[in-house]
Amino acid sequence: MRLVSNGKSNADAVVLRAVVLSAVDVWKSYDEGAIQVLKGVSFEAVQGQTVALCGASGCGKSTLLHLLGGLDEPDRGRVTVNSIELKGMRKRHLLLRHEIGVVFQLHNLIADLTLEENCLIPTVAAGTDRRSARARLQELASLTGLSHRLDHRIQKLSGGERQRTAICRALMNRPKILIADEPTGSLDASTSGVVFELLLKMVASEGLTLVMATHDRAIAERCDRLVEMRDGRMEDR
Ligand SMILES: Nc1ncnc2c1ncn2[C@@H]1O[C@H](COP(=O)(O)OP(=O)(O)O)[C@@H](O)[C@H]1O
Ligand SMILES: [Mg+2]
Repeated sequence: MRLVSNGKSNADAVVLRAVVLSAVDVWKSYDEGAIQVLKGVSFEAVQGQTVALCGASGCGKSTLLHLLGGLDEPDRGRVTVNSIELKGMRKRHLLLRHEIGVVFQLHNLIADLTLEENCLIPTVAAGTDRRSARARLQELASLTGLSHRLDHRIQKLSGGERQRTAICRALMNRPKILIADEPTGSLDASTSGVVFELLLKMVASEGLTLVMATHDRAIAERCDRLVEMRDGRMEDR
């Protein structure tokens, strides 16, 4: 595992933290190369950090997050989780299932199922026994203020409640990394603020590393680091 310093001068204590997620010279195109999106992106996030990924619509934020979350593969370059390269890795679905949670802009929940049923799905895939899974859900629902909504269908929930449910679902298997793609992008300003505060609370209480794409500058500024994508590459701000 690679460690990096927190960059403090020698008067301060230097803290070494593990790089948990990285992209090295990553290229990605669509339509057989007709749409070149990522042109040599390098990026890394260290354990416990919150990183905001900004950039104009269409610049490739979702594309990069999908690669970092193992949902798609780069044309060239390396993506690593806990210093392990995803490409060619055996049983990579197991690593991804337990290490990474993902929250999307439009929650991607199943509207006809209840909050509880939606959240239990990833635990079935992970083979968690039902009792532990329900205990975990109760813990998360309590932290996110959803305890009274467990048996409600998603279609009956408000936008903010749906996003809070999506956060719970992403955390059911106790991942250490949370990838969030415009998690507040479909919410009005005040709900967006509430959901983001909750996200930060969960990140702190679970000791997560957060990589989050966002359009919202005020939200981005609250993260430890802000990186900007431009012309298919990454700039630290
Ligand atoms: N599956 C796809 N097939 C073809 N083009 C795509 C696909 N996904 C994204 N794109 C294109 O790639 C570019 C980057 O998209 P995206 O990563 O979604 O940007 P962002 O999240 O920053 O808005 C856009 O031009 C988009 O139209
Ligand atoms: Mg996007």
